[in-house]
Amino acid sequence: PSKNVENGGLFGLSSEEYGHAIGLDASERESTVSITVVGASGDLAKKKIFPALFALYYEDCLPKHFTIFGYARSKMTDAELRTMVSKTLTCRIDKSENCSEKMEQFLKRCFYHSGQYDSEENFAELDKKLKEHECGRLPNRLFYLSIPPNIFIDVVKSASQSGSSKDGWTRVIVEKPFGRDSQSSAALTRGLKQYLEEDQIFRIDHYLGKELVENLSILRFSNLVFEPLWSRQYIRNVQLIFSEDFGTEGRGGYFDNYGIIRDIMQNHLLQILALFAMETPVSMDAEDIRNEKVKVLRSMKPLQLEDVVIGQYKSHTKGGVTYPGYTDDKTVPKGSLTPTFAAAALFIDNARWDGVPFLMKAGKALHNRRTEIRVQFRHVPGNLYKRSFGTDLDRATNELVIRVQPDEAIYLKINNKIPGLGMRLDRSNLNLLYASRYSKEIPDAYERLLLDAIEGERRLFIRSDELDAAWELFTPLLKELEEKKIGPELYPYGSRGPVGAHYLAANYNVRWG
Ligand code: NDP
Ligand code: BG6
Repeated sequence: PSKNVENGGLFGLSSEEYGHAIGLDASERESTVSITVVGASGDLAKKKIFPALFALYYEDCLPKHFTIFGYARSKMTDAELRTMVSKTLTCRIDKSENCSEKMEQFLKRCFYHSGQYDSEENFAELDKKLKEHECGRLPNRLFYLSIPPNIFIDVVKSASQSGSSKDGWTRVIVEKPFGRDSQSSAALTRGLKQYLEEDQIFRIDHYLGKELVENLSILRFSNLVFEPLWSRQYIRNVQLIFSEDFGTEGRGGYFDNYGIIRDIMQNHLLQILALFAMETPVSMDAEDIRNEKVKVLRSMKPLQLEDVVIGQYKSHTKGGVTYPGYTDDKTVPKGSLTPTFAAAALFIDNARWDGVPFLMKAGKALHNRRTEIRVQFRHVPGNLYKRSFGTDLDRATNELVIRVQPDEAIYLKINNKIPGLGMRLDRSNLNLLYASRYSKEIPDAYERLLLDAIEGERRLFIRSDELDAAWELFTPLLKELEEKKIGPELYPYGSRGPVGAHYLAANYNVRWG
């Protein structure tokens, strides 16, 4: 139930009166879900949210009774919203099925209401429309705040001003960035909690919805061959690598205020790290998993300047094509020092991971697009093959690679004998390539996360204490970088990034995979 609730209103529906009027209590009434995409005119809504909702509808994952409302300031009719949305819906799941018919049915359930983000009156109008569609059923409401964070509070305030006790649920998905540092993040959380309970807030980190990230716990905890090796005793270092082969074109305005450390490391890569390194949870329940993740984050040392390298891409001409530098973007201030690349060494001060470097690397405008977790194991002790055959392969360590994207895969590098009469050794891969093993297309992260939010599954969403712990690790470093105006090392668009990243890894006797 919502906070600050009296009578009527968007976050608190007077649904009881409907139920009572028709003589049913909550458990007997049919329910309905109303999904409101706030900021429906924006990029994320078009690119990700509506397509994910359609995919869920296509796969019959949405409840029988549901309605989708777009809300934003832009003036649009229902028909215009449907035209806009239809442009980004794809029949990716099964092209042979009659997708256009499904699309049509889906679009008929999409509506639009134009309003200001800080207007109680406009949200009251939306509430009225939602009620009409709910037709007296048990009303459950999901709001997706797909808007810049500086207007989150306006929205929840306006929408919840006159809430009332209700029997359906209300949940609010909020998109990153959740603040710029510990203080602003705490202020945002305090602001949201004036109007919402913590369990109504679903902080999304879409990397947690990626198939291979979700599979991490399965890989570890359901395979005896891995879990016993998962510690400082056998693991030499862990690398978390995010790279994109395009720059911040078009998003420079947003990006310049955040930079790659806040955009990727503090959330996506740190979340992967926490899942990778956590102890076995008591169960797979959300609170048990999130408790373990928080313990990892709280066992880590805040980042030190000497353990970080930052870079920024510069213009580069290749094959007659000139790729623009970061500061060539008109929305980026000239002379900006915002990093578009960062590499960092992090450490977890607990018994399992003491002394093991977790190396993170994240960058835009690099030579390829990939997200990987690379686990480098220690050397095999002794020198058996070197002594016997002069080969150095004893020193070639095993490496487990979890490729989150693209071409999802898990492979383990092993040492192997080359078939034949001689005794020659080779490094080879035990390879689980998802595209070869599984014929079904992997759902987009937003599909899984939206479905979880509808079903009230919080496992893949960030709890406020997790968020606080994450910011505590990065805030002192970010402050120092900004106060000392530390200049990033420039790297050409499309390159492998600053050479400083290699020196950083070398400090820990590591080579990037
Ligand atoms: P947009 O900048 O496209 O904003 C969404 C909508 O919000 C706009 O269509 C506009 O609607 C309204 N809006 C934008 N700026 C303002 C403003 N200053 N004041 C009031 N209203 C404004 O954002 P995105 O759709 O790209 O992203 C939405 C959220 O998701 C953001 O928090 C973003 O950081 C986050 N995000 C986005 C990703 C992406 O790929 N786009 C990826 C990960 C997170 P109108 O004018 O019609 O009211
Ligand atoms: C977003 C970042 O959170 O993730 C973007 O703000 C980045 O800068 C994006 O491009 C990457 O997501 P994905 O799913 O395309 O790897």
